Amino acid sequence: MKARSSTPAPPAIEFNDLGAQRRRLGARLDAAIARVIEHGRFILGPEVREFEQALSEFCGAKHVIGCSNGTDALSLSLRARGLGATDAVFVPSFTFAATAEPVSLLSATPVFVDVHPDTFNIDPQSLKAGIVTARARGLRPAAVIAVDLFGQPADYDALEPIIAENQLWLLADAAQSFGATYRGRRVGEIGAMATTSFFPAKPLGCYGDGGAIFTSDDALAEAVLSLRMHGKGSDKYDNVRIGMNARLDTIQAAILLEKLRVFPEEIEARDRIARRYSDLLGDIVQVPRLIDGASSVWAQYTIVTSERDRVAHALKQAGIPTAVYYARPLHRQTAYAAYPVAGNGLPVSERLSEQVLSLPMHAYLDGPTQDKIVNALRAAIPR
Ligand SMILES: Cc1ncc(COP(=O)(O)O)c(C=O)c1O
Repeated sequence: MKARSSTPAPPAIEFNDLGAQRRRLGARLDAAIARVIEHGRFILGPEVREFEQALSEFCGAKHVIGCSNGTDALSLSLRARGLGATDAVFVPSFTFAATAEPVSLLSATPVFVDVHPDTFNIDPQSLKAGIVTARARGLRPAAVIAVDLFGQPADYDALEPIIAENQLWLLADAAQSFGATYRGRRVGEIGAMATTSFFPAKPLGCYGDGGAIFTSDDALAEAVLSLRMHGKGSDKYDNVRIGMNARLDTIQAAILLEKLRVFPEEIEARDRIARRYSDLLGDIVQVPRLIDGASSVWAQYTIVTSERDRVAHALKQAGIPTAVYYARPLHRQTAYAAYPVAGNGLPVSERLSEQVLSLPMHAYLDGPTQDKIVNALRAAIPR
């Protein structure tokens, strides 16, 4: 029998290498999980409050409430605020379905708004058009859910005057941007409320589902605390609202506490890697643009190219994983197609869904691996 070649195959390139983080933090994470198993307070144990306080210190929000996931964080926030059947909630179409889902579940109406072609975030001009569309349909413009897509905050200085002028309420869907900043403000401090997700692939991710809600409003915070636990009043068997079971698990909080300790360093690494991608690729594809005074946590590093599918195929052949977020804007999804869209349509969301491509991005992506990705991309797009 012929001997096999002894040259080991090079390690596969990961899109998001959670294993590398695990190799660094594994012992600390295992000890944190073991401590929870030992004390046995699995539901709202001490780590949940400790983590909420640590997040509050990290981002400056007065109230931080951990919860079951980023989707429930949006639901809890909208329920705390209260929405009626004729309320219009403006939502960018180029986002994950979770942004619009809680609006529909509350029987309010999502009105889809276009995004900016360079930042992928809600376009203030389209928001204005959406307000006109909503009124023309007999809806009451009530709220905006601004999404900080791929890790960069939306352009809040441009949005807030429109929001104030039209007496709207701002909820920041920061599922992808926790840890980022915007002109001296930290994500979590922006909006009447903000929400995030600790889904494992997020920049700050746990080992299952998790989320959080941020607000400086005492009454909204109290309502969320109640809603998170079956609408509890003075105790859990006193039900003053129709609530949810939407708590953050103690084990997940313990994991997140450990991950939060290295999070600033990881954000720096992500930023360094993203800037290097932009330096090396900016001449052949559209690279992400940061608005003045904003930072991103680079939940995704997303390029735009008219040859997206061909490029993705070439990269796959070269062993490089990529992903498309999002291949179909929400207003084109079966479940949401009947809802209004701003103005005459959402051409930017539609074009981006055909042209975006996210490259491998995580804090442990080393230079030689990034070089391979860049070289394969440059080979796929000859100039
Ligand atoms: C923009 C956005 N909003 C909301 C969510 C929902 O978060 P979760 O998956 O934790 O429910 C996600 C998750 O991917 C997201 O990307």
